[in-house]
Amino acid sequence: MKGVKLKIYGLLFVLLMVVSCKKEVVKTTDIATQKANDLLAKMTLEEKIGQLNLRGTSSRQKTLPNELKQAVREGKVGAFLNVMKTEYVDELQKIAIEESPNKIPLIFARDVIHGFKTIFPIPLGLAASWDADITEKSSRVAAIEASSVGIRWTFAPMLDIARDSRWGRIAESPGEDPYLASKLGEAYVKGFQGDSLNDPTSMLACAKHFIGYGAAIGGRDYNTAIINKELMQNVYLPPFKAAFKAGSQTVMTSFNETNGIPASGDKKLLQEILRKQLNFDGFVVSDWNSVTEMIPHGFAKDEKHAAELGLNAGLNMEMTSKSYEHHIKELLSEGKISESQLNNLVVEILKVKFRMGLFENSGRNSKASKLYAKEHLALAKEAAIKSSVLLKNDKSILPLVKKTKIAVVGPLANKPREQLGTWTFDGEGQHSVTPIKAFENNNTNFSFTEGLSYSRDKSEVQFKKTIQNAKNSDVIVFIGGEEAILSGEAHSRANIDLPGAQEKLLKELSKTGKPIILVIMAGRPITLTNIINNVDAVLMTWHPGTMGGEAIYEMLFGIQEPSGRLPVTWPKTVGQLPLFYNHKNTGRPVIPEKFVQMDSIPVGAWQSSLGNTSHYLDVGFTPHFPFGYGLGYTSYMYSNLQVSTQKLTNTNQIKISVDVKNTGERDGEELVQLYVQDVVGSVTRPVKELKGFEKVKLKSGALKTVSFALTVDDLKYYNSNLKYGVEKGDFNLWVGNNASNGLRSGFSYE
Ligand code: NOJ
Repeated sequence: MKGVKLKIYGLLFVLLMVVSCKKEVVKTTDIATQKANDLLAKMTLEEKIGQLNLRGTSSRQKTLPNELKQAVREGKVGAFLNVMKTEYVDELQKIAIEESPNKIPLIFARDVIHGFKTIFPIPLGLAASWDADITEKSSRVAAIEASSVGIRWTFAPMLDIARDSRWGRIAESPGEDPYLASKLGEAYVKGFQGDSLNDPTSMLACAKHFIGYGAAIGGRDYNTAIINKELMQNVYLPPFKAAFKAGSQTVMTSFNETNGIPASGDKKLLQEILRKQLNFDGFVVSDWNSVTEMIPHGFAKDEKHAAELGLNAGLNMEMTSKSYEHHIKELLSEGKISESQLNNLVVEILKVKFRMGLFENSGRNSKASKLYAKEHLALAKEAAIKSSVLLKNDKSILPLVKKTKIAVVGPLANKPREQLGTWTFDGEGQHSVTPIKAFENNNTNFSFTEGLSYSRDKSEVQFKKTIQNAKNSDVIVFIGGEEAILSGEAHSRANIDLPGAQEKLLKELSKTGKPIILVIMAGRPITLTNIINNVDAVLMTWHPGTMGGEAIYEMLFGIQEPSGRLPVTWPKTVGQLPLFYNHKNTGRPVIPEKFVQMDSIPVGAWQSSLGNTSHYLDVGFTPHFPFGYGLGYTSYMYSNLQVSTQKLTNTNQIKISVDVKNTGERDGEELVQLYVQDVVGSVTRPVKELKGFEKVKLKSGALKTVSFALTVDDLKYYNSNLKYGVEKGDFNLWVGNNASNGLRSGFSYE
């Protein structure tokens, strides 16, 4: 019986092949596509299925099973992730190009998220730099280093808009704003892929996670997202659009479901939105097992059904799970997918391999290895400085003068691995410059008592010694926050205060009367309400990477100024989350003067909503620090806001200018931000949207006129009919140094 069945399948298959060989499979005519089609015509069904197969080992696995080598020999693998040894990369590639049936090279992938060996600040930190240039340069360095061991595909950038700091993967996100995320997305892609895909240092970018992963309910990782169609178009899709425009060759479907459909089986998403609307021209990879996870989602009834859904949605390559490998033949013979569909999926992968030049040069970048090159480390230090956000600096306690006697305290002051942050499988602690190491290298006048051994430590055994040390010093520098493992994938937190006994130790230290500078290393905003009044300065460095310590040393002593600005709204308490500046106004927007704090409500008060607005009785309506916020070591004055015309048309543009003056005694760098509000829309519009920003360097006392230009294109949005355009009416605009302030003007569109 079995034999007969097999023969029938075989016959059917030959028939299908004959039919499919006759017709033109893919119409696009670029050379890579042409070559891919020519190659496809020579491939067996097994090999085609093989190309859709992304095999992986765990990032901890140091050996390479023979079974994987054999699979490559038989043409059953298209790409690999986490091959942790360079010898294995070379060996597998050799087998693929010498022994596999059509000698199709493999692509080797890894999560090179914020650096390979030289680690840069976590992506949320890099987003705080608001600096596309340093983002591009740092991802170029990551590609140069990773390609030297054969990695030519990274699963980055992550472009998930994140509005909830409880979500562990906010660490990996570009923050809450689609405009900023789009600029950064473009920069990441350019940096990873370089000038030419077939350069051996080029690493394919993978825009992820498509889509809505950052909107997980309650910040719980992998959780359901509910996103209406305008929000999807106006907020969640733009960063992906920018990444595809910049040439990202791959995109990863997300784990989550959005509006009831898991992304890996979402045909409308992958075909209408991704391919048609966003003109995506590379290939789609699933996330780890996300195809078969459609079973627990309750969307696929079994593995075969999951494969059918993924294939029909247009998902090209399956990461780690094997539903495609196990079921494609059967699905073809049952007519659940067609041979031409399969061919298309394969061609989309092959053409990327041709674009990468892998058929001519499948080897890894053999140029001299530049791991931890001097210029890479210098860039990592610069990035850490540009990413750091000074949140508080009472009485200009910072910068410190060199002779100050410092008591350095805190669980992260000397933790080489922790300062690297999440997603650093290849980063090595022994190359990190910790703050303690940097203080030593620079002959700083300090003494160090850790106080707590790790960020979650609740033991008070070191308190006495630590407080004594503090008493003998002029200033306390407390370096705390979260260990790397407390953020990242599957590491959401419901309470985002400083963990362990850090708050307690800070309170004890503040009793000494010595000024306290709190330096935070963390993967997310940390709620500081309980201790903000016990400290004099707060410097947020995120997880700053390999050169974090050197960067912190230079910022504390004013050799450099921290110039980062918040890419996310910083909450006072988790109860405010999700929290973001570009929210809607509601019918009862906040009237600050009318806000009644809970403790002022008379006991026994009659129930009434009158006078109350959209706020919390206990914490009010403001965040702790707004989006775009950050201090420097000098001060600025904004004046003379000019708008070139009150009337925007389809043909003119509005020029906006403002004078920014450095009114302090130090030279500095300011981030000038432009926000716009579309006052009335056929769909309600956000209270503000970022539409431009510029970093300006200003010498003490200097004034610069900063200009922006707006055209109708900058104001277009998707309304409820998904019509993209501008609607007639009034617009407000603000130019300032964060989302909560600014000089105000306006114009109208007719
Ligand atoms: C799961 C993560 O969601 C994804 O971002 C990552 O690239 C893959 N695992 C591969 O490690």
